[in-house]
Amino acid sequence: MARWSAKSLAKPDVGSLLIDRGTIRYAPARMAEEKDTLTVTDNRTGKTYELPVTNGTISAMDLRQIKVSDDDFGVMSYDPAYKNTASTKSKITFIDGDKGILRYRGYPIEQLAEKSSFLEVAHLLYNGELPTKDELEKFQHSITHHTMVHENIRELVDAFRYDAHPMGMLVSTIGALSTFYPDAKKIDSKENRQLQFHRLVAKLPTIAAYAFRHRRGLPYVYPDNDLSYSGNFLNMLFKMTEVKYTPNPVIEKALDVLFILHADHEQNCSTSAMRSVGSSHVDAYSAMAAACAALYGPLHGGANEAVVRMLEEIGSVSNIGDYVQKAKGGEVRLMGFGHRVYKNYDPRAKVIKKMAYQVFDEVGKNPLIDIALELEKIALDDEYFVKRSLYPNVDFYSGLIYQSMGLPMDLFPVLFAIGRAPGWVSQWNEMLEDDEQKIARPRQVYLGAGQRDYVPMSER
Ligand code: CMC
Repeated sequence: MARWSAKSLAKPDVGSLLIDRGTIRYAPARMAEEKDTLTVTDNRTGKTYELPVTNGTISAMDLRQIKVSDDDFGVMSYDPAYKNTASTKSKITFIDGDKGILRYRGYPIEQLAEKSSFLEVAHLLYNGELPTKDELEKFQHSITHHTMVHENIRELVDAFRYDAHPMGMLVSTIGALSTFYPDAKKIDSKENRQLQFHRLVAKLPTIAAYAFRHRRGLPYVYPDNDLSYSGNFLNMLFKMTEVKYTPNPVIEKALDVLFILHADHEQNCSTSAMRSVGSSHVDAYSAMAAACAALYGPLHGGANEAVVRMLEEIGSVSNIGDYVQKAKGGEVRLMGFGHRVYKNYDPRAKVIKKMAYQVFDEVGKNPLIDIALELEKIALDDEYFVKRSLYPNVDFYSGLIYQSMGLPMDLFPVLFAIGRAPGWVSQWNEMLEDDEQKIARPRQVYLGAGQRDYVPMSER
């Protein structure tokens, strides 16, 4: 049976968990009984507890009954960076990091990238099913008719410095949208949430294109309803004096596929931010501004930009050896390598690598690809990277494609955000429909000073 959780959580035979003077250890599987429970013996008290195991997980709250005395708070699990904590049940995206599998609503990413469109995938993520022809037409129509933004948003983008990072502009502008749509506060209404989903998916390319043109001092281009989602985005980015912009079909398709590949990735940093901030019941725009801010970081959505900067810094194939040594010595990280979940080749990177050549055939080869290919080869053969299961991730090749399309590096994370928008809103919607969810509020282990008396300034 397909499970919703990461494979590492889906172990049918986990043995017993023993708490031994503050140390938790697994007892051999032979001790496990033929039922879905975990027997915990607290060696501090000698007491034994039987905890239910559901979907390969124990409930952290079940640990609280394990106490040394009545006034003891009870055992908590300690998991900085949520390395082994499932924060939600979800039916949206399945990842098996060991095997390199990614599926949206059960559909393999490779099939969706080859056969569907970004809007079809957006509909799938939010609603759970691929749209019928009629549903897709209605959805496309609605997205097309929500692409415009209020003129004050245009003025807001204008107010940024000439060299403002487009991601900074995107974060602020998405947050500002909440003031234009105060009705978005009605998060209890299913219809209202659906409307915000349409607005956000529709308006992100418009804002992104405004940010791009602001940097170049070019007049803003309004959406063209005759064009596809990615075709219209290219129009808003690149239209100059021509009456009608005609997108290059290869670039249009490549952009659409890149958006599909980025559309969701279960509980990553930005999605967790969207869910966590959204759990306070703030509107979708404010929650998405937080998600976008999380994506801005170089360890997350900023990595595609960092990869191209790294390849430029390496400069030539002959310098790769030295750079790899620096990475092994901990001086630098190989950007676009490694992933918290994938301990195998990222399936998205495989699709992107193939697509890169289609784009290069159209617009000319990006010279950095030779450095990238050689770097990949050397790293995949090197014991340091093999031992740590560090493979190229989605960002390793995507930046090279964007660069070949004529897009500047600091726009790359913005493109990631456009692709991820349907995933963020779908996860936010799922969280709000989930009766088990409450406002996110992790615990801490306090290790600071005990109570002490205030010391007057003269005595310090
Ligand atoms: N280059 C060199 N060494 C690395 C790298 C790397 N890119 N990534 C991890 N390591 C090493 C790390 O030094 C550590 O070694 P040791 O065990 O000797 O201390 C080991 O591998 C485990 O690393 P970690 O930092 O504990 O792994 P993590 O799961 O916390 O980090 C990551 C995941 C993606 C943040 C990290 O691999 C990284 O910084 N990669 C480069 C940035 C990048 O490409 N990010 C994009 C991620 S994919 C897009 C997305 O989903 O956002």
